[in-house]
Amino acid sequence: MSTEEIRKKIENLRREIELHNQNYYRFNAPTLSDFEYDLLVQDLTALENKYPQFHDPNSPTLRVGSDLSQEFKQVVHQYPMLSLSNSYSETEVSDFVQRVEKLAGVLPEYVCELKLDGTSISLIYENGSFVRAVTRGDGEKGDDVTANVRTIRTIPLRLKGHFPDRLEIRGEIVMPFNVFDALNAERAQNGEPLFANPRNAASGTLKMLNPAIVASRRLDAYFYYLPGPGMPVDGHFELLEMAAEWGFQISPHARKCKDLAEILQFLEHWNRERATLPFATDGVVIKVNSKRLQEELGYTAKSPRWAIAYKFKAERVSTRLLNVSFQVGRTGAVTPVANLEPVHLGGTTVKRASLHNADVIKELDLHESDTVYVEKGGEIIPKIVGVEMSLRLPGSLPVQFLSNCPECGQSLTREEGEAAFYCTNDDDCPPLIKGKIEHYISRKAMNVDGLGSETIDLLFQEGLVNNVGDLYDLTQEQLIQLERMGEKSADRILEGIAQTREVPFERVLFALGIRYVGETVAKKLARSIKSMDALRQADVARLTEIDEIGLKIAESIVAWFQIGKHLDLIDKLKNQGLQFESKFDENFLISQKLTGLTFVISGVFNNFSRDELKADIEKHGGKVGTSISSKTSYIVAGEGIGPSKLEKALQLKIPIITEEGYGQLTN
Ligand code: IVH
Repeated sequence: MSTEEIRKKIENLRREIELHNQNYYRFNAPTLSDFEYDLLVQDLTALENKYPQFHDPNSPTLRVGSDLSQEFKQVVHQYPMLSLSNSYSETEVSDFVQRVEKLAGVLPEYVCELKLDGTSISLIYENGSFVRAVTRGDGEKGDDVTANVRTIRTIPLRLKGHFPDRLEIRGEIVMPFNVFDALNAERAQNGEPLFANPRNAASGTLKMLNPAIVASRRLDAYFYYLPGPGMPVDGHFELLEMAAEWGFQISPHARKCKDLAEILQFLEHWNRERATLPFATDGVVIKVNSKRLQEELGYTAKSPRWAIAYKFKAERVSTRLLNVSFQVGRTGAVTPVANLEPVHLGGTTVKRASLHNADVIKELDLHESDTVYVEKGGEIIPKIVGVEMSLRLPGSLPVQFLSNCPECGQSLTREEGEAAFYCTNDDDCPPLIKGKIEHYISRKAMNVDGLGSETIDLLFQEGLVNNVGDLYDLTQEQLIQLERMGEKSADRILEGIAQTREVPFERVLFALGIRYVGETVAKKLARSIKSMDALRQADVARLTEIDEIGLKIAESIVAWFQIGKHLDLIDKLKNQGLQFESKFDENFLISQKLTGLTFVISGVFNNFSRDELKADIEKHGGKVGTSISSKTSYIVAGEGIGPSKLEKALQLKIPIITEEGYGQLTN
């Protein structure tokens, strides 16, 4: 490599690592495994050591990642919260033991503990009373999350026995698997995004602004480290036992080990047995027991020399493929799902694994009845990572993707550049019909109170509703005949449907679910074309005159209005008195502060719903775009911003602001 190529490589690595840091610490949405991340950091460190001429004080190797957020008061840690250096093999653990023994000049005692996969916390007690809880933050200072931590039942608020006057103790806040599963099930039912893993759920919960919600999430905590001098005993293990007497739940299954052989035994045991634990672990931490010796061994810039983390390999099991079924989503996307012989993996029983799309099946070269390897990564649904070719049954055939929709039989289509096959039989395929109705009643569209996807399913099943127009013919008598439907709920639904007559034209247009007509496009159409009648008459040429309406959208709209069923629907909705004309008044602006600026919104916000934020931007003269391009002026990022958006923003160097930053623009 030329010097220039090396410089470029270093720069690319730095950029990539920074991106993953943001994903991990700020947005709780990692896109890499810890292992892959560590490899990147290792590569960069090696290059930086070899080529010191490219030193940069802002290199990601020179800092620990940050999870600081703006809503909490920040507190400086008396002792920095360091991370541990990671190892992935027994050889690396053996090197660690050798290094320690050489530096120490004695054969020290070790303590092996489980490495809990949650979020770290530091607690302060004064005269035995809990006074403060601080997150790791950037290692130097963290967020004061005392009110939230106080809700965790296993954390003592008053200590028992003989404790130091001032005590700092560190540990991990975790969300046990059963709590995590229940939380995600509830979120799924409410249509909220799911947490990818218990770690994200724990750290996300800890950063919530409402301690009452935190309390309802049933977090738990285990403690594993007491920093600083002045402790009543020298041994870390003995100190943990004391902490247990003071009232703390301490590092579970910790064990003293006298040499490498015992350490390796512990690793081997938990590599297998961790599957039986009720909480997530991602490795083992090996520590020198004596605190005096710990201090002698000291620290590097980022981590102690007296401890090391051994990371478990991603849990992988093999099982038999029973068959592949195909699910048609409410958008028409067809997803293959592998049905497996049930197998135990990472605390749960796995019966199904996503195969994502046709390409994945092809890449795996999956055949009927294959023995497959299943792994649980950071994702919710386990995935098939490989096939055991030596166990393939003779004569078994490759798994074929369907060519026709399993629900309605129409042939599937796949658009260029897209991974998924779609059923496009919008008006006649059951899941798509239900999807259309769900979209129509959704909050951003007609916002029908009291009606959810379960009721839609029932109404469809009973043959009462076949398209959104049928909603207007429903009666109380029909509704109360549905399972678990009382008069009150029925009236609420009817009232909700009646109220759709007040919904502005632009949202009616969005609610129809015309392909490519999202919220923004609907708004543009409504403001420019002004009425349903005019839209029905408009041709492609007229439509493409409108700002940001391209050929694809225009053609889709024209085609939609050519279908008889759709015209009948429009007539019906018109007769029902829905808003078919735009009442938008361009002069209604609070200010012109954002005129000329285009914003893209992503993530979840604390002070605004996304709709409110959009409305606010528009009231100040700004525009809201749906995708990031060179024309985007700002990205307003909330919690959980998508990693692809983030990447694009960094690529195009578009400033990313928080909702507070946005507030400053309009104040
Ligand atoms: S000891 C100075 N013990 O792992 C070292 N850490 O990469 C203090 N962790 O930030 C940490 N289980 O969040 C220690 N039994 C354990 C642990 C543990 C999980 C986490 C902790 C720390 C990270 C280190």
